[in-house]
Amino acid sequence: MATASAPGKIILFGEHAVVYGRPALAVPVLQVHADARADLVTDKRMRENWADAILVEAPDIGLFSPLSALLADQTPHPLAAVIQKTLQHLGVAIPPAFTVTIRSTIPVASGLGSGAAVSVALIHALAGLFERALSDEQVSQITYEIEKLHHGTPSGIDNTVIAYAKPVYFVRGQPIHTFSVARPFTLVIADTGQAAPTKESVGDVRKLWEADKSRWEAVFDKVGEIVVAAKKAIESGEIASLGPLMDANHALLQEMTVSSPELDRLVLAAKAAGADGAKLSGGGRGGNMIALVQPESAESLASALKAAGARNTIITTIK
Ligand code: PMV
Repeated sequence: MATASAPGKIILFGEHAVVYGRPALAVPVLQVHADARADLVTDKRMRENWADAILVEAPDIGLFSPLSALLADQTPHPLAAVIQKTLQHLGVAIPPAFTVTIRSTIPVASGLGSGAAVSVALIHALAGLFERALSDEQVSQITYEIEKLHHGTPSGIDNTVIAYAKPVYFVRGQPIHTFSVARPFTLVIADTGQAAPTKESVGDVRKLWEADKSRWEAVFDKVGEIVVAAKKAIESGEIASLGPLMDANHALLQEMTVSSPELDRLVLAAKAAGADGAKLSGGGRGGNMIALVQPESAESLASALKAAGARNTIITTIK
């Protein structure tokens, strides 16, 4: 038997512009997690129809199915794709019978990286079952392959921050670069309750960019400058300058048309309730926003956001 867990994540700065090569900052969120467990049923290997002997259970979504059925669909189920790719990666051509069970406390489609976290936990559990260790880089790569199946052209930020479970200064296509947090700071993460259609918002930004590249490249440059300034502020403990940087990043995301009335309502409510800065986080049009707050005011800010319509809030300290 083997078990593994992976955290959620939140993008602090730089979403969307990151798709166009600008940097972004993201951190793991340990309050929510995906957990996977793999149990060997028997050592006996069936040459024929081995995928019938692998059971996939995700009780949270009512899924109890043999792997073979999940692979039969035209687009294989994400969990089936993870299992298939991981077995290939581990060089297990004919696996013995096993069962995997996946649970997650990470809200889906909300920018907290639930899909990537499920993949990372499942990959580690399978590696554990076959007594193999995969590096964070390998896990990140396999997860990226899965993300590509379901999200089109992801930048790779989700799989990186979740596989490494570290704060990441992410630049597409470059080796991982983590950053240190000189002084802890507190965020309230608030969920609009609306599913974030990341693929759609990424596609819409692409249409804008295609219609007027010089305009949008200049906007992405501004986002890039904000990200660099935010990294410096976090690494030197100048937390006071982060709030205005969040506000400026949100304004640029609004310009990219990826905010929504609900996100803007929560951002305004956060500011009115005394947050030092606030912005949407992730793909936008729904999903989560984040607000920077003094630790002693976090609970009251979370209540204010709920009163303004947030479905759920998480208070997290970045350190
Ligand atoms: O919605 P999320 O948290 O998966 O974030 C999407 C982030 C984007 O920059 C919009 C897209 C990407 O692939 O980086």
